[in-house]
Amino acid sequence: MFKKVAPYMGEYKKYTVWAAILMCIGIIANVAPYFFLYQIISPLTRGEHIDIKYIFIRVLLVALCEMIFAFSYVQGLCFSHVSAYNTLKNIRISLQRKLEKQPLGNIQNLGTGRIKKIFTDDIDMIEILLAHAIPEGIANIFIPVLIIILMFIVDWRLGLLSLVPLFVGMLAMGMMMKAGMAKMNDYYESAARMNNTIVEYVNGMEVVKVFNKDGDSYKKFGETVRAYRDFTIAWYKVCWPWMAVYSSVLPCLTLLILPIGSSMILSNALTLDRLILVMCMSFAVGPSVLKALSFAGKFPQLNYKIDELEKLMDNPPLKEGNSDFRGENRDVVFENIHFGYEDIEVIHGVNLTMKQGTTTALVGESGSGKSTLAKLLVHYYDLNEGKIKIGGQDITDMTLEALNNQVAFVSQEQFLFNTSLYENILIGKPDATREEVLKAASRAQCDEFFGRLPEGIDTMAGDGGKQLSGGERQRISLARAILKDAPIIVLDEATAFMDPENEEKMNAAIDEIIKNKTVLVIAHRLSTVKNADKICVMKDGLCIAADTHDNLLSACEEYKKFWDASVSASTWKIKEA
Ligand SMILES: Nc1ncnc2c1ncn2[C@@H]1O[C@H](COP(=O)(O)OP(=O)(O)OP(=O)(O)O)[C@@H](O)[C@H]1O
Ligand SMILES: [Mg+2]
Repeated sequence: MFKKVAPYMGEYKKYTVWAAILMCIGIIANVAPYFFLYQIISPLTRGEHIDIKYIFIRVLLVALCEMIFAFSYVQGLCFSHVSAYNTLKNIRISLQRKLEKQPLGNIQNLGTGRIKKIFTDDIDMIEILLAHAIPEGIANIFIPVLIIILMFIVDWRLGLLSLVPLFVGMLAMGMMMKAGMAKMNDYYESAARMNNTIVEYVNGMEVVKVFNKDGDSYKKFGETVRAYRDFTIAWYKVCWPWMAVYSSVLPCLTLLILPIGSSMILSNALTLDRLILVMCMSFAVGPSVLKALSFAGKFPQLNYKIDELEKLMDNPPLKEGNSDFRGENRDVVFENIHFGYEDIEVIHGVNLTMKQGTTTALVGESGSGKSTLAKLLVHYYDLNEGKIKIGGQDITDMTLEALNNQVAFVSQEQFLFNTSLYENILIGKPDATREEVLKAASRAQCDEFFGRLPEGIDTMAGDGGKQLSGGERQRISLARAILKDAPIIVLDEATAFMDPENEEKMNAAIDEIIKNKTVLVIAHRLSTVKNADKICVMKDGLCIAADTHDNLLSACEEYKKFWDASVSASTWKIKEA
């Protein structure tokens, strides 16, 4: 387990080593007073005279030991926590970097709740391993081992006796772990389900309220919460009996030593002072072993969580080349694209060429694969088959950053970060000046609603951008794309939430920004894409025709059907070349 975490510790590994050393010193200092106690009691049992100075020195030594214990234990904990929290930070950052490079589908399939749990709760548990189990565990094992060796030196029979509760305790611990492991999977699965349901319930609160389905969704929520309770109790139920056995047996060492040691004294096989020494030492064994075992009890959980984390980290990343953009121009070519989310193929061999500086529109029924094609162009997913090329260069041949610099994407699902609107736009070009951001916002028709917001462009967007309307969120996303000024632009229903007046203004702005760019535009309202250089008609994951509006009207039955049905009042027309 430590081996799996060690690569993330970096320079902080030495802090953990120092923590373990300091804690061992601390624990020795905590046990030593028993020896000084013995030095006082032993002569008394023999009726010998001891002067007050002798007692005073030992009392002082006891006080000194306690001070050493307090200092080294606290300092050890300090080191171990510095190491632990820096390691947790490193793990979280490297998980974030790996997730960034993975297909979106991997992340969506796991669910927000599960990923949040791995990022926060599961990774947090590694703190127990690094800050406590390793340094404190080592120290708490070191002490009983030391004491038992000393017991063997003082009297081998009592030494042997001290092994009995240890052996029984360990056996019970082993049984507990075995029984717990069998239930663990159910327990963690139910925890992950509960997390996902809670996140879904909170995110969907709006739908729940509007459709007055509190009953139903609360039922699902309640079921997962109850299942978690049941699995947790079932898990504890199999563990508790064994826990009771080892927690009661381990501190029993003194109880065993007292009667057996006493009978040995009576038969002159042992002296009273030796029995007292062994008794004193035995007090320290039980608590130390119990503490060490309490960490061991957490190891199966930790192992499971680290495995989950590793699985997530090891998911194959998107195919990514390491070259810069080397395309000859900004022609975009889809070559025999096949793609499926999970096992079901939704794009079945699409061929499409978008010439540099032209506008290509994707039209088709809902679910025909338009957004999927757009997402494939920005490399959210790897293809099952085929190639997407920009200027002749395969997009999997360039780095994700290089591709990102070529394409600006305004997606159908608008998401804003809970920072200011200004910063949300700035994402498009992080080194832009304030003037550039304001200009982009203005071109995306944001000024009108900025005027209504308390702090204008510096107003916070709210959780996921929820403080803005759908149309306002779209305008911020468009401003982001305008600021980015990439040579290829993908607009997926970029004006779907607009009212007619704003849509008109926005379409004019779009006309302006797509000049001389290679554009892929998706729109339900056909009137908005009528003048595109090429219109690709999608049906069930296939491009069934690709031509100009006029040619399609006469040659493509499906397109004609769409056109006839189109009742769009939109006035945006792509200017004819
Ligand atoms: N994340 C996903 N996981 C699994 N299947 C998906 C996912 N996203 C889309 N699909 C499926 O892929 C198919 C194509 O979806 P896509 O979003 O590309 O359609 P669309 O043409 O953009 O539809 P719309 O016009 O409604 O936006 C649909 O059958 C859809 O159910
Ligand atoms: Mg879509």
